[in-house]
Amino acid sequence: MADWYLLAKQGGPLQGEISLGGAKNAVLVIMASLVLTRGTSRLKNVPASSDVLHMIDLLRSLGAHVSFDAKQNVLDVDTTFVNKWRVSPDIMRKMRASILVMGPLLVRFSKAEIALPGGCVIGSRPIDYHLKNFAKIGVTIAERGAYLNVHTKQLCARELVLDYPSVGATENLMMAAACTPGITTIINAALEPEVLDLIEVLKKMGAAIRILPPAVIEITGVSELRPIEHDVVVDRLEAGVLLLAAAITGGSVSLPAARADHLDLFLLKLEEMGHKIIVGDNKRGVTLAATDAPKAVSFKTAPYPGFPTDLQAPMMALQCIAQGKSVVEETVFENRLLHVRELQKMGAQIDLHGHQATITGVDELYGAQVIATDIRASSALVLAGLVAKGSTVMTGVQHWLRGYERLEHKLSRMGADIELRQGDWRHIKTYQQDSLSSSL
Ligand code: EPZ
Repeated sequence: MADWYLLAKQGGPLQGEISLGGAKNAVLVIMASLVLTRGTSRLKNVPASSDVLHMIDLLRSLGAHVSFDAKQNVLDVDTTFVNKWRVSPDIMRKMRASILVMGPLLVRFSKAEIALPGGCVIGSRPIDYHLKNFAKIGVTIAERGAYLNVHTKQLCARELVLDYPSVGATENLMMAAACTPGITTIINAALEPEVLDLIEVLKKMGAAIRILPPAVIEITGVSELRPIEHDVVVDRLEAGVLLLAAAITGGSVSLPAARADHLDLFLLKLEEMGHKIIVGDNKRGVTLAATDAPKAVSFKTAPYPGFPTDLQAPMMALQCIAQGKSVVEETVFENRLLHVRELQKMGAQIDLHGHQATITGVDELYGAQVIATDIRASSALVLAGLVAKGSTVMTGVQHWLRGYERLEHKLSRMGADIELRQGDWRHIKTYQQDSLSSSL
């Protein structure tokens, strides 16, 4: 992706009715879960984003037969011939979610060889919660160079307490427990919508899983899991970016497939800013009509149903032009404010103190050359580029492509002047350069 970039130009209010893709953070783990079965499963509403393509590569490297109709967003995976338990470093390096095959491989082969995960740069993103609890259920873990070698004589059912409601650790342990004789409980479990979608899939496969208050997942092991058909849950994070695109440009958008029950606190914050939100029957469908004078709001990110860390960056773009001071605290990842520096290049007034950002709204942002540092930072910079004076060039588009399927096309359909381009972007005049050169 060396010389690819996104070019966004200041435009008018965005309008439209837009469809939503399936959730990346559901489909990746659901694809990994198919290793628990033997036979052909069909997944629908699968986004054709590069992370999905990476997970397809991973499944094929294990021996699965995979066909993906990217136009229809339908994925067929035959796991009958899966006969490998080693995940190569180059596959792991591309996507941290590859760690999610550990649980299924332990069930199928009682062992796995996994290179240490790669993925975004948002903090060290260790896997200690995964490993310490795998050890508790009978897994021996050895580090050999860049590889984690794990094996077990017999997985055993245990009561597990997570230090933190980690999405990945919850998912990995739940998949490992699905065929373990006895009852495994995961206390302080993550219950994000994407985790719930995985639970739906595992139950379709034949797993016996209950969710108990306040945040306990109880798994009763079964002897076998069968292939399934499943429509992946819609992506609340793509919905969030599209709602923010209408909000930041003073427009309106209707998302008939959006699950408002997956976005409660995010929608509340948009309403507190003054935007008009209409939610459809049984919380299906969301429409936003933007206010022309958005007010500052503050929030801190937290595990679901708290404010989603994956919407923190794009929401900050909107706060940059809200009236007043907003305070954002990132509590989930220790290094997920790298987009602040890039937004400041566009004229945003943001003060950083550790995990807290104080944003003082400004009347205008200015186009600049900016770099996306992770998937969600890329959507923040695109949103800012839609309202910043002049042009904005965003590099690091591999992050944008990892997390969203042709989102720039959806924004164009709403009236945005945005284009994915290839070539030398250095010559492109952004507002900042124009004003710099004219002042020289
Ligand atoms: C999932 O990552 C999502 N990714 C992330 O989305 C999302 O931001 C995150 O959950 C939180 O909602 C996928 O589902 C593929 P965690 P995950 O384990 O499972 C620390 C995106 O942009 N931690 O809940 O990796 C960790 O460092 C991505 O789509 C440990 O310390 O998140 C983080 O600070 C980004 N040790 C916090 O817990 C561990 O063993 C939450 O991590 C595991 C995690």
